Amino acid sequence: MSNRQILVTSALPYANGPIHLGHMLEYIQTDIWVRFQQSRGHQCSYVCADDAHGTAIMLRAQKEGITPEEQIARVQADHEKDFAEFLIKFDNFGSTHSEENRELANTIYNRLYENGHINVRGIKQLFDPEKEMFLADRYVKGDCPKCKTPDQYGDNCESCGATYNASELINPKSVMSGATPVEKESEHYFFKLPEFQAFLKDWTRSGTLQTEVANKLAEWLDSDLKEWDISRDGPYFGFEIPNAPGKYFYVWLDAPIGYMASFKQLCDKPDNNLVFDDYWNTDSEAEVYHFIGKDIINFHALFWPAMLSSANFRTPSAVWAHGYVTVNGSKMSKSRGTFIKARTYLDNLKPEYLRYYYAAKLNNKVDDFDLNLEDFAQRVNSDLVGKVINIASRCAGFVKKAGGTLAAELPDTELLQSFMDKGDEIAQYYEGREFGKAIREIIALADQANEYIHEKEPWALAKQEGKEAEVLGICSLGVNLFRQLMVYLTPVVPEMSANTLAFLNIDNLDWDSRLTALTDHNINKFKPLMNRIEKEKIDAIIEKEKADAEADAAAAATESNSSTGDLSEPLADEIEFDDFAKTDLRIAKIVEASHVKGAGKLLQLTLDIGEGKTRNVFSGIKAAYNPEDLTGKLTVMVANLKPRKMKFGISEGMVLAAGPGGDELWILEPHEGAQPGMRVM
Ligand code: MSP
Ligand code: ZN
Repeated sequence: MSNRQILVTSALPYANGPIHLGHMLEYIQTDIWVRFQQSRGHQCSYVCADDAHGTAIMLRAQKEGITPEEQIARVQADHEKDFAEFLIKFDNFGSTHSEENRELANTIYNRLYENGHINVRGIKQLFDPEKEMFLADRYVKGDCPKCKTPDQYGDNCESCGATYNASELINPKSVMSGATPVEKESEHYFFKLPEFQAFLKDWTRSGTLQTEVANKLAEWLDSDLKEWDISRDGPYFGFEIPNAPGKYFYVWLDAPIGYMASFKQLCDKPDNNLVFDDYWNTDSEAEVYHFIGKDIINFHALFWPAMLSSANFRTPSAVWAHGYVTVNGSKMSKSRGTFIKARTYLDNLKPEYLRYYYAAKLNNKVDDFDLNLEDFAQRVNSDLVGKVINIASRCAGFVKKAGGTLAAELPDTELLQSFMDKGDEIAQYYEGREFGKAIREIIALADQANEYIHEKEPWALAKQEGKEAEVLGICSLGVNLFRQLMVYLTPVVPEMSANTLAFLNIDNLDWDSRLTALTDHNINKFKPLMNRIEKEKIDAIIEKEKADAEADAAAAATESNSSTGDLSEPLADEIEFDDFAKTDLRIAKIVEASHVKGAGKLLQLTLDIGEGKTRNVFSGIKAAYNPEDLTGKLTVMVANLKPRKMKFGISEGMVLAAGPGGDELWILEPHEGAQPGMRVM
């Protein structure tokens, strides 16, 4: 077998949220495939990165009151930790917001431009006059133009299913500010995808895609392709397009280039002999594979190969899509507690349980994938613990008792030989991403090994005199059979594999290492390699996710609900967004605070709400605050409340505070960065 050079990627997770078990299907699938290739002696590199650009990430950072750079650094640290604990062994994990990626994106774009594959033209789009930014479809809401259902997004109606342009919405409102958007024209940069129709018809049919994916794409490729809008107007968190000030690459333009950039970082690391051009030049003999989910096929199987071909880089050897994870038969749901974060899982269960279960059920199709939690526990407990580990635990003790050295000659060598021979078939299954079939064969072997031990009953022989050699022989074979299984399972359960190395006193479990039997060889004490999954742990995961979902909902409610009150106060009746939007909440600076003569509960506040405007407010927070502790603080006020005449003077608004009252009352303070006069939404 010749030594292959392989580069493998998984899709780049967005840097605006945590990794969940849906994502993990992909990273586990890819990692198993990579470890399998490495076990076979191939040069196989695995790179990934965080997908750091786009409007969502910019807005999330704004909301948290931090810079986008801080935001993506925080999320990336969490992502890397989750992946490491799930034993995902990236050779490099980068970020699309890197210098390498900027350079490569510019190079590719410049080549597309020089080749005449970029078209610049003006388009009309909705614009938020308050936020001063263009609004992507999901940032506009209004009444459906077809069925009039209110509160629908700018691209399609959830009620009647109609698709439309955001500008067709009746009574449109910016989700960000509540302002009524206006239509505004600006220049956009388009990639001329239609010019690649013939190339793509060919490419998608050349063995690069799963048949069902190629068939689906053929439908598109038979009708006219549209030019792809690759630019976004600022403000946008991304890379500015060369020679186009104020225009940024759309996040999906530089995201797949992130694969190359992450690989570039790997090549540039000291102590490796990887050469970037060997993998990406058009005459490359290396193999490049992208593992992705079914939702992002178009980006990888149409735009990406077309861009690469225009830019004079090689195209991927294959793009492999998997389906979506459901939990207990339904879409992952926060309220049901089945939207399981990687972190919550890791806090309760070992990564290898999930790796094993995903492997046992994966195939090379695009079908959705059900994580049934009961089946999960049952399968792991019965296969891994009950069958595989059982072989070692039944045999190890007898070998130890006999001095810890495996027999110099094994009985029943044809059984061992048949285990070795299975390796070719199992390898084919791994190679073809039929992990479920590989696992089925492996567990069938485990059944055979257990039957063998069961028949030979070494524990009964051990009680008879003069049978020591026979017992050692049987158990030495048992240990050898276990080692065969661990060779086959190493890509799936790498930690268990590492512990097996220590137990068997060997230095690797690579695919071909199985071809020599372990005889006359010292082994170490057997330590239980894995415990059974306890149902309580699964329950704990679900409970934690439910609690998180409730906390999120409560946080969202406090964000949008400014009523003062106690924790047990029931939520007020639902209101229309328009009702809420009438409230003008502003950041206010308390420039002066004083006691009011004769008033038991009130303080008089002078509030600066920006642009030189001040407001006089009487607020019932005297029991909770000393006036001198309030001066200089920022808070939030209702700035358009009709002035009210009170006994001590006119109050021109209200300050927001929470708590049951009396001395348990806390005024709201904005995160640092907020300025007097800013509108609060
Ligand atoms: N950032 C893009 C990918 C850019 S690749 C150049 C993206 N990110 S994602 O975080 O939304 O998803 C990352 C990967 O996880 C995608 O391949 C996606 O299909 C996969 N999955 C996300 N949710 C999933 C499930 N529930 N089930 C299976 N895979 C899922 O898309
Ligand atoms: Zn509708």
